[in-house]
Formats: sequence, structure tokens, C-alpha cells
Amino acid sequence: MKIEQQVSLKKYNTFGIDAKAAFFCEINTLKHLSDVLKRSEYPDKFILSGGSNMLLTRDIEGLVLHINLKGITVSQENEEAVLIKVMAGENWHELVLWTLAHNYGGLENMSLIPGNTGTSPIQNIGAYGVELKDVFVDCEAMEISTQKIKTFSKEACHFGYRESYFKNEGKGKYIITSVTLKLTRKNHQLNTSYGSIDVALAKNGIKNPTIKDISEAVIAIRSSKLPDPKVLGNSGSFFKNPIISNEDFELFSKKNPEAPYYKISDEAYKIPAGWLIEQCGFKGKRFGDAGVHVNQALVLVNYGNATGAEILGLAHKIMKAVEEKFNIRILPEVNIIK
Ligand code: EPU
Repeated sequence: MKIEQQVSLKKYNTFGIDAKAAFFCEINTLKHLSDVLKRSEYPDKFILSGGSNMLLTRDIEGLVLHINLKGITVSQENEEAVLIKVMAGENWHELVLWTLAHNYGGLENMSLIPGNTGTSPIQNIGAYGVELKDVFVDCEAMEISTQKIKTFSKEACHFGYRESYFKNEGKGKYIITSVTLKLTRKNHQLNTSYGSIDVALAKNGIKNPTIKDISEAVIAIRSSKLPDPKVLGNSGSFFKNPIISNEDFELFSKKNPEAPYYKISDEAYKIPAGWLIEQCGFKGKRFGDAGVHVNQALVLVNYGNATGAEILGLAHKIMKAVEEKFNIRILPEVNIIK
């Protein structure tokens, strides 16, 4: 197993932050992983997957483990459905394309989400009305302290909106090694009502969409709003959409009748953070190399050489402005490495 020293992490995080790892190791097998976790000469270990949901604000003093476990296998199938086991290092969007090529339904709305499959349960990734939890069966994870593999059922993962056990009680204790998903082989459950999917389909004259048509519509919508991390460093939505109580919503909507919102339960409403940030005048603004994306104010971008601290400074400025103007606190959804 090769351990490198002083490795730049710029190409390993989609924000393109040039932080350094004191030690760096590529993990290709489960044996690799358990062996390296046992090595006591590197007490601080930092787990890096697709690097698509993190902001590095400092160098990493310890050993970075880059999880590159590969493989997709069909573990069970019948006429209706299929279970696929996907190793953690598989790129999420390539997985989506693989499922479409096999006509397996369920992931099409989550096309083009950056990152790897192993981290998808950590924040229960989601887009256009579908979340990982809708197709999730279970995942396997290695306990860092014992190197034992444990299986987490859907219930054990405590999924919520961009939330899970792995972001809370389980934080820092496990490394997800594989994820098993249940997909349809026929009678696909199409979900076209969210966002502008049906508008995009109608524009292309598609009346009876296939899962591939939906994926293509999602790709077109996402590409028009969200920057490609290969071109402009970013981490997708930097903030979560805030959830507010009925009372707070009543006050808010009286003052802001034009604001978009989603009623998410009898007790709460979700307000798009992108709208709040845009109203504070930040959309498209640039401060040095840190900026707010022109087409989607929820996304912070790195124009080239921004440091993590500069991006974080901008995030704080935005949070303060939103709180002052709307009395609503928005919180990052990105994992900030301080
Ligand atoms: N809006 C604005 N200004 C903006 C951005 C949005 O006014 O700059 C308004 C839009 O006009 C719309 C509403 O806010 O009325 C919602 O916007 P959008 O449909 O773009 O979705 P979002 O709520 O901003 C969420 C997810 C995205 C996901 C989309 C589509 C979160 C934090 N973000 O964004 O997820 O792609 O819905 O499902 O929930 C990600 O997590 O990285 C991500 C991109």
C-alpha cells in the first residue's frame, strides 16, 4: 500500500480548494481499508470520497484515505425489480447511466448529482422529488475502531431531508463501503411533476416519457442552473432550504407574499434559500475568487484560487444578511472541515 506525502487535494474536492494532505493513501480493496485503519503511526485519519459535499478550510495534518472501492453487482432480481450492490467509490452519475442502460428505474430524477455512491446515504441525496431513501435497501460500513463490517437497514440510517445517522450520532465512526438499492425492471414509477421536468418534456414534445427521457430532462434543467464542477468549483447547494413553523410562515408570507414555498407537513413550511439569498442581493456577486452563482444563489463557487476560508467568510456574510432581512437562519448543508 502506497502512502504519499504532501499531496494537493485540489483535484479531489469539487470546490477545487488547494488544501494539502500530509499523508495520502488510495483505498482499492476492503483489505486495504482494514489494514490502513489498524496503522497506529497515523492516528488521525480523514475519509475522502468524491469530495463533492465538503469545504476544506485548512490543510489535513493526518492521513487522507481516498475511498476508491469499485464494482456494481446485481444481488437479486425477479420480473419486477432488481437489487444492486454498488461499491462506495463508484461515481453516482455513472451509476445512474448504468441503470438507464439496463432499463432499471428509480435513479433517473437524481441524474447528474456530483459525488460517489458511498457518500449518498450520508446526506440522503435528492433532487426533483426523489431522495436516495426512496430506493435505498441497506448499506455496509466498516467501523473505524474495530474494522468490522456492519449492515445498516433503511430504518437504522434515520434518513431525513439532507440528513442521516451518519451525519449525526454515527459521525466519524463508520466508512460506508457499499450501498444496496432496489430498482424497478418494469412499471417504472415516473415522477415528473416536481420542478420543471414536465415543462422540459413538453418542450421536447414527449408525452409518454421513458426513464431515459426523464434523466435527459433533469440533465438539461440541472445544466442550465448548476455550474459544472469541472469548469467552476462548487459543491452544489451550499445551504439547506430552511424549514419554518406555521406561525413564522404566517408572518413571513404576509411580509413577502411573492416568496416561493413548499408546505411539507401540517406544522411546517420549507422556503427556498436560493430565493432568500437572491433577495439579499448576492446572486451573481463575486468577492475575489469566491462568489455566488449567477443562475442559482444557493450555490457558492470558486472562480479559481479561493481558499476555503474565503468561501466560508462569504457563507457567513450571506447567513447574516438573510437573518437580518428575514429573521430566518439558513444553515450550510456542505460539510465544513474546520
Ligand atoms: N430561486 C430563486 N433564486 C435562486 C434560486 C432559486 O428565486 O437563485 C427560487 C426558484 O425560482 C424556485 C425555488 O427557489 O422557485 C426553488 O429553486 P430550485 O427548483 O432551483 O430548487 P432549490 O430548492 O433551490 C433544491 C435542492 C437541489 C435540487 C433542487 C431540485 C436543496 C438544498 N437543494 O434546490 O439540490 O437539485 O431542489 O430538486 O434542497 C444539492 O443538494 O446540491 C442540489 C443541487
